[in-house]
Amino acid sequence: MDSQPRSDRADDGVSLGDTLVAPGSRVHGKASVLGVPVTYTATPRPRPSGSHIPFGHYLTDHVLIAEHEAASGWQLPHIVPAGTPHAEIASGAIQYGLSIFEGLKAFKSPSGEIRIFRPDAHARRFAASASRLCMPEIAVDSFMSAVRAIVRVDADWCPPHNGGAIYVRPTLHGSEAFLGVRPAAKHTFSVILSPVDSYFEGDDHKLRLWAEREYTRAALGGVGAVKTGGNYACSLLAAKRAKENGFDQVMWLDAHKHEYLEEAGTMNVFVRIGDTVITPPLGGTILAGVTRDSCLMLLRSWGTRVDERPVSLTELAESARSGKEIEMWGTGTAAVVSPISELAWDSGSVKSTGSSIAPRLREALDGIHSGRNEDPFGWLVTI
Ligand code: COI
Repeated sequence: MDSQPRSDRADDGVSLGDTLVAPGSRVHGKASVLGVPVTYTATPRPRPSGSHIPFGHYLTDHVLIAEHEAASGWQLPHIVPAGTPHAEIASGAIQYGLSIFEGLKAFKSPSGEIRIFRPDAHARRFAASASRLCMPEIAVDSFMSAVRAIVRVDADWCPPHNGGAIYVRPTLHGSEAFLGVRPAAKHTFSVILSPVDSYFEGDDHKLRLWAEREYTRAALGGVGAVKTGGNYACSLLAAKRAKENGFDQVMWLDAHKHEYLEEAGTMNVFVRIGDTVITPPLGGTILAGVTRDSCLMLLRSWGTRVDERPVSLTELAESARSGKEIEMWGTGTAAVVSPISELAWDSGSVKSTGSSIAPRLREALDGIHSGRNEDPFGWLVTI
């Protein structure tokens, strides 16, 4: 299993099981990209126009699909016009939420190359999510090859950098038509793509968050640490209520004491108290964000003091009261690094009073993504 991103891969074919599609082979008399047979669309989709591409509104022309059957394992992937597959209503995915996904991004370099950010890290998390939900795992190399193939097919959808990217959404769902509650005998792996630019409209967007003390996102022993759809479905009511009360999103707290920060909406959360950056530890209820990990690596390489430890509302409020500078931000693939201006709860609030770290992290990551800065950790993988 690869642990390092590789940017020098040859056209070496894609396989999710034992059989490899021969590089350059042509199937059905159609094209093959990185060994994956492609049926090109006859009806291209509308492209984004206007100055802002709203997140998730546009999907590209093609989708990569591979099926897995418990009895025979993985079939070879193929790329077809988007919109062709349809979900089985009686499936575990629709009935019981048997579905996992990833979100990663591909960026255009100044010379026009398309490069994917840390696909190996996303592949490993995808495998961990699959294992938690009793789904078939996909090898890291196979996941990366599949993502490279579909991004190559729709590469011309990639917006110029400037915050723009192709958002890559690999999904694995239980697709067997069966209503019993047990691991599915049939699964479908798919990868769709969406051109995006900044997640929040306006680059200077600062979030106001409501610390949610009634609803919780995850409890120990649950599925909070994996990327499954139910974690997002169950967040909607609290987010709706926060928005009705004038906030942008919720700050999720621990399920036991409703006191310790866990996640900021769909993002991991960081705070700086004085000169120490703190982020909650990955204790089983928090998603191991790839952007979170990238920020930790950058901060440590800068010599910034970073603690992965629980941080409570009380600690934040007392630190603010004692005059310490506070800075808060969220991190995620979609939003990258998003400053939080205020965190409020039923009995208090804190405001960010400094901004020495989040903009620097944002600038560093944007610089690496776009190819403006060097890629010191070898995070980018060329398609
Ligand atoms: C991401 O940042 O990729 C996420 O998972 C958030 C997404 C659900 C919009």
